[in-house]
Amino acid sequence: MDAPVFQNAPLIDPFARTIDYLRVSVTDRCDFRCVYCMSEHMTFLPKRDLLTLEELDRLCTAFVDLGVKKLRITGGEPLVRRNIMWFFDQMGRHLASGALEELTLTTNGSQLARHAQALADAGVRRVNVSLDTLDPEKFATVTRWGKLDAVLRGIEAAKKAGMAIKINAVAIKDFNDSEIHHMIEWAGAEDLDLTFIEVMPMGEMEEQERLGQYWPLTEVRTKIAERWTITESNHKTGGPARYFDVAETGRRLGFITPLTHNFCESCNRVRLTCTGMLYLCLGQDHSADLRAPMRASDDPAVLEAAIRHAITLKPKGHDFDYSRQGVKGQVKARHMSVTGG
Ligand code: GTP
Ligand code: 5AD
Ligand code: SF4
Repeated sequence: MDAPVFQNAPLIDPFARTIDYLRVSVTDRCDFRCVYCMSEHMTFLPKRDLLTLEELDRLCTAFVDLGVKKLRITGGEPLVRRNIMWFFDQMGRHLASGALEELTLTTNGSQLARHAQALADAGVRRVNVSLDTLDPEKFATVTRWGKLDAVLRGIEAAKKAGMAIKINAVAIKDFNDSEIHHMIEWAGAEDLDLTFIEVMPMGEMEEQERLGQYWPLTEVRTKIAERWTITESNHKTGGPARYFDVAETGRRLGFITPLTHNFCESCNRVRLTCTGMLYLCLGQDHSADLRAPMRASDDPAVLEAAIRHAITLKPKGHDFDYSRQGVKGQVKARHMSVTGG
């Protein structure tokens, strides 16, 4: 029988954007409770609702077959999922075959010391570690439950295992504004890249509280330029950050600016959750269930059709907006931990 004509054609959304980056949240659980991400008392999914790792493998493999080149494993905290290294090893086979260009993860770093070598062995070359402050007390405050020491040990172990590391810091007003220069200095000394992120209105939170957290990166950049020589770089990762080179440290500095400089036009990604929902945009509710079609049939064409249909639902972009003293475009029903950013 002839192969269907659509087979292996790339995934293209209604706005002519090629989708070749899949972010996969393997668990909604986390061992931290970052104040801008989760409430203190979260209700997590019952274990029976999770896809098995074999099912996640099947879904991710279907995306790779449809042209996904970059796979980022997220959570919650991906490294708290039981037996997760098995899954990384499985995804490593797509690197070995050449189908996948990058296998990577975004982690809070708490379990990284334990897993760094195995991740490197699975083919992970680069890891993004979320870290908003270098002050142990402030770290304990912002994560509610976290220990800075463990994260720093994790970063060390990842370096030893030969992985490149990017630190992701959410810029939070009246919280880490006094540390910006110190963080750039530290990242330089430790050979790490560093990216600042504008806080997004994900999950239920009082408007004034969210507005109080927001520190536009236009202001952060001005402050940085007072002390450091930064020049725009051509470096691209397929992610949303715009990069600068810092002359004094020789490291890269990235800015992720959903609010002050929208980057949806060049969006290349979709997000799979640990229950098999595909979210088409971080800032919108458009989604499609891939679990039912996957479980209904072993025929890859059924899953492929479901994925292709889901991609037709991808919206143009988010509607986040903090202007006029209010918060617009909030995604109330979903915390960042559902999709891992
Ligand atoms: P690199 O491969 O290092 O470029 O990674 P990345 O920036 O794609 O991934 P990372 O997990 O480091 O993303 C950092 C943060 O950027 C996420 O946690 C989100 O907060 C934000 N982000 C990533 N993708 C999107 C997006 O499509 N839209 C918006 N609004 N924010 C995004
Ligand atoms: N806005 C911006 N970034 C957020 N993150 C979590 N919640 C938010 C938010 N509301 C970031 C974390 C981590 C990544 C998974 O998402 O700091 O870097
Ligand atoms: Fe956990 Fe990351 Fe959310 Fe913090 S931002 S609570 S580390 S998922």
